[in-house]
Amino acid sequence: MTRILALAVSALMAVAAPSAMAADGKALVESNKCGSCHKMVGPSAQTIAEVMKRKAPDLFYAGSKFNKDWLVKYIQSPTTLRAGGVVYLNSISLNGEADVVKDPPKCASKLSAGDAAAVADYLMTLKDASMKTGVFKPGKVKKARARVVMMKDEACNACHVFPGKGGGISCPTFEGIGERLNPDWMYSFIQDPKHWDPKVWMAKRDFDDATLQLMVNFLMTAD
Ligand code: HEC
Ligand code: HEC
Repeated sequence: MTRILALAVSALMAVAAPSAMAADGKALVESNKCGSCHKMVGPSAQTIAEVMKRKAPDLFYAGSKFNKDWLVKYIQSPTTLRAGGVVYLNSISLNGEADVVKDPPKCASKLSAGDAAAVADYLMTLKDASMKTGVFKPGKVKKARARVVMMKDEACNACHVFPGKGGGISCPTFEGIGERLNPDWMYSFIQDPKHWDPKVWMAKRDFDDATLQLMVNFLMTAD
């Protein structure tokens, strides 16, 4: 009887451990004031005026969006992902012919490795349950075909930087995007950006599944 009880208790503790980490992570998010810049609770900005006040990307669906290993690294030593700032119009000053880009705002997170692991555990619990998972099908990457669709037909490079090819800076770079993001989330975001961010300046297009798979396969290997 006691043996069974002991087993039951150890089983319970094994289950409790990850959520205890996530609870620590939640407390760390609060004590580090991540929420002073990031929305940790939805919904996303509903009006352009709200978007213009956005200091940092939304994190309330971080668990659907990111790869955990990337999160753990990033929140210890953040880099610039959006060279034109979080809200491009707030980061440029119009100076005659050319736009002058001011220093983009940087993420203030400087967590230790241990704290970063706990915070990442917590962030990974923040999911949008309506997102379909298991949608992305890893396949042969057709780089040339993907570039024709993305750079010639759709001009994704008007806003996004393509590794080695340059591009616009009004939104996140595609450099290292495969390491950063969950491919199912990329699929969902490209299919319907406004589901995630109603006032985002990326248009919804009617891509079929094959085109979405082509693009996400390309992005997963873009470095
Ligand atoms: C002073 C404001 C500020 C604070 C405080 C802050 N951040 Fe950030 N964070 C930013 C900005 C600005 C960016 C966007 C950087 C870029 O894209 O170049 C960012 C980006 C991020 C990203 C990547 C988001 C994405 O969609 O690309 C994560 C993850 C993140 N921060 C986590 C955190 C965590 C965790 C904390 C608290 C420990 C935190 N941040 C505190 C401003 C802040
Ligand atoms: C008019 C500018 C614009 C164009 C053109 C555009 N996007 Fe975007 N894209 C955005 C903005 C704005 C965001 C989100 C901004 C943010 O997270 O700060 C975004 C986000 C993304 C993301 C998520 C990136 C991340 O790191 O969070 C992916 C993936 C993406 N776009 C793919 C595409 C693809 C594929 C195309 C072409 C079919 C495209 N975009 C065309 C503006 C654009």
